[in-house]
Amino acid sequence: MSDSRSVTCQASPNIALIKYWGKRDEELILPDNDSLSITLDLNDMHSFTTVSTSSSMTCDTFYFDGIQQTKLSGRMQKVLNEVRRRSKKDNQIKFVEIRSRNTFPASSGLASSASAYASLAIALTNLFNLDDSQSTTAYLARIGSGSAVRSIYGGFVRWSSEGECLSSCVYPAEHWPELRIIILIFNSSKKPVSSTDAMQRTRETSTLFQARLSTVNKKIEKLTEAIKIKDFNTFAEIVMKDSSQFHAVCMDTYPPVIYLNEQSKHLIDLVHAYNQMDGNHQIKVAYTFDAGPNPFCFIREEHVEEFLRLLNNFYPAEQESKFDERFSSIKLPIMSNALERIVQTKIGAGPKIVS
Ligand code: DP6
Repeated sequence: MSDSRSVTCQASPNIALIKYWGKRDEELILPDNDSLSITLDLNDMHSFTTVSTSSSMTCDTFYFDGIQQTKLSGRMQKVLNEVRRRSKKDNQIKFVEIRSRNTFPASSGLASSASAYASLAIALTNLFNLDDSQSTTAYLARIGSGSAVRSIYGGFVRWSSEGECLSSCVYPAEHWPELRIIILIFNSSKKPVSSTDAMQRTRETSTLFQARLSTVNKKIEKLTEAIKIKDFNTFAEIVMKDSSQFHAVCMDTYPPVIYLNEQSKHLIDLVHAYNQMDGNHQIKVAYTFDAGPNPFCFIREEHVEEFLRLLNNFYPAEQESKFDERFSSIKLPIMSNALERIVQTKIGAGPKIVS
């Protein structure tokens, strides 16, 4: 008789509104600062992870997209070892098979490590009935990848840098359902320096880094208040400023870490020109950039159509696109063929166990 058991979990990526950058403990992945993020909608994109165990298994195995990997990454091994340490005698874990896939391509501009480790942590906690499930799941997700700890909840999520460094949902997805996220893919190739390496280098060399840390909590408080009352103008300004501050810190790192490219800079100018176009101080779009050149744009549903027209106008697939009169006051160059693709999504309710 087979004693095989398995659990499957889906979790989606998250986008940081206030960035996590810097670890005070590399081993345990304890962050230097609090961060705040939006978890994306499961229906649009997620990692789908199944973990199984049975007494007949003779080693840990990992399949990605159905293909067996020659070995598990160091961080994945760390997660499994922690599960072994925490599992109870009567439920002792020997070996595990992990099967994971993403419903979104690596070229979507989204780090898949957050959704992958969040879904793995939740599936393992359930499969082995681990105690203190919330803090255990957070711990397992975090030692896989710091930002993964925010993907274990839906809506707006804060990751604390204090105490047990847990994450919590600040507002659920349904709090601001008209908020949309538009991801522009300018360049889908791999980033030159991983966030893990870059943040370590920042810590060692940047003087701006300390200055940033002293501003983060106040920003999070202000942003949380803006989210509470759905004040998009304040929300947008804080988010864009934090993105720029994060990239300034990367630039202040030595040797500098430069994630933004020509298209990113063009998009920044375009968004500001667009927001100022009607002269009514109403911000319609905000951007943020993670460790890459691709912007994540936040916008309310009512402005999506016009913003897509704007993108079509300035980033046409072909040279000979028609100019849209609505945007004639924006004096910026047209960048043909700059956009590889656009991904549209919204806030999500968080992970789901499906088996
Ligand atoms: C710029 O979570 O990928 O996206 O903890 O080393 O795995 P590790 O780093 P990771 O860093 C994410 C950095 C960021 C900002 C953020 O998501 O908060």
